[in-house]
Amino acid sequence: MIHPLALVETSQIGGNVTIDAFAVVRSDVLIGSNVIIHSHAVIEQGVQLADGVEVFPGAVVGKEPKGAGALSRKPVFERIVRVGAHSSIGPNAVIYCDVQIGEHSLIGDGASVREQVQIGSQTVIGRCVTVNYNVRIGNRVKIMDHSWMAGNMTIGDDVFISGGVLTSNDNQIGKKGYSDAHVVGPTIKDRAAIGLGAKLLPNITIGAGAVVGAGAVVTKDVPANAVVMGIPAKLVRMVE
Ligand SMILES: CC(C)(COP(=O)(O)OP(=O)(O)OC[C@H]1O[C@@H](n2cnc3c(N)ncnc32)[C@H](O)[C@@H]1OP(=O)(O)O)[C@@H](O)C(=O)NCCC(=O)NCCS
Repeated sequence: MIHPLALVETSQIGGNVTIDAFAVVRSDVLIGSNVIIHSHAVIEQGVQLADGVEVFPGAVVGKEPKGAGALSRKPVFERIVRVGAHSSIGPNAVIYCDVQIGEHSLIGDGASVREQVQIGSQTVIGRCVTVNYNVRIGNRVKIMDHSWMAGNMTIGDDVFISGGVLTSNDNQIGKKGYSDAHVVGPTIKDRAAIGLGAKLLPNITIGAGAVVGAGAVVTKDVPANAVVMGIPAKLVRMVE
C-alpha cells in the first residue's frame, strides 16, 4: 500500500510494497517485492532495494556526499546504492551514494555509512556506528554500537568489533593534507575479535583469528591467532 501522503516519483515498484505517509522515494529508484518504507524515510535516485528490505523512519538512503568546500578529501562516488534482500536500515541511519549492502544485513539506528563502501551479507553495523569512505566489510561481521571505522580500511569475514572501538588512518593527524598513499586505515583479517574501546592506529594489520584486549592501543601488526593487550598492545599469548 502506498499512502496518499507519501511522495513517490518512481514507478519501478514490486508487489506487496508498503510506503508510509511522508516517505519520499525519488525517480530512478528500484523497489523489489515486500519492501517496507516507513514514514519520513528518504530514498534518493539510484537506490535499489531488493525484496524484503525494510527502511525505518527518518533513514536517508543514497545521500550525495557534499563537502561544502571544507573537506580535505574530495568525495568520489557513483550514484548507486544496492541494498540486498531482507536487509534493514534503522531509524535515522544515513547511507551515502555508492554503497553496496549484502543480504540479511542490519544497519542500526543512527548509523552513518559513507560513499565507496561495501558491506557483506548477514553483517550487523550497530547503532550510531560510523563507517567512513572506501571501506570493505565482509560477511557475518559484527560492529557493535558507537564504533568508528576510518576511511580506507578493510575488514574480513566473521570479524567481531566490540562497542566503542576507534580506528585511524592518518599518522600525521592532517598535518600533511590528504593523499590516498599515506592515509590508510587498518586491515582486520577474518575471524579477528577487537575488545571494547580498543584503538587501532593507521596502516596496521590484525591477523586472522587474533584477539585485541579491551582498551588496547594497537600500534603494530598483530600476528594471526595472537592475543594482545595493553598500551601499547603487547603479545601475551596465542589463542587456545
Ligand atoms: C584480552 C582478554 C581476551 C584476555 O583474557 P584472558 O587471557 O582470559 O586474561 P585474564 O582475564 O586471565 O587476565 C590475565 C591478565 O591480564 C590482565 N588483563 C586482562 N585483560 C586485559 C586488558 N584488556 N588490558 C590490560 N590487561 C588485561 C588481567 O588483569 C590479568 O592480569 P594479572 O595477571 O596481573 O592478574 C580479555 O581480558 C579482554 O580484554 N577481553 C575483551 C572483552 C570485551 O571487550 N568484550 C566485548 C564484547 S562484550
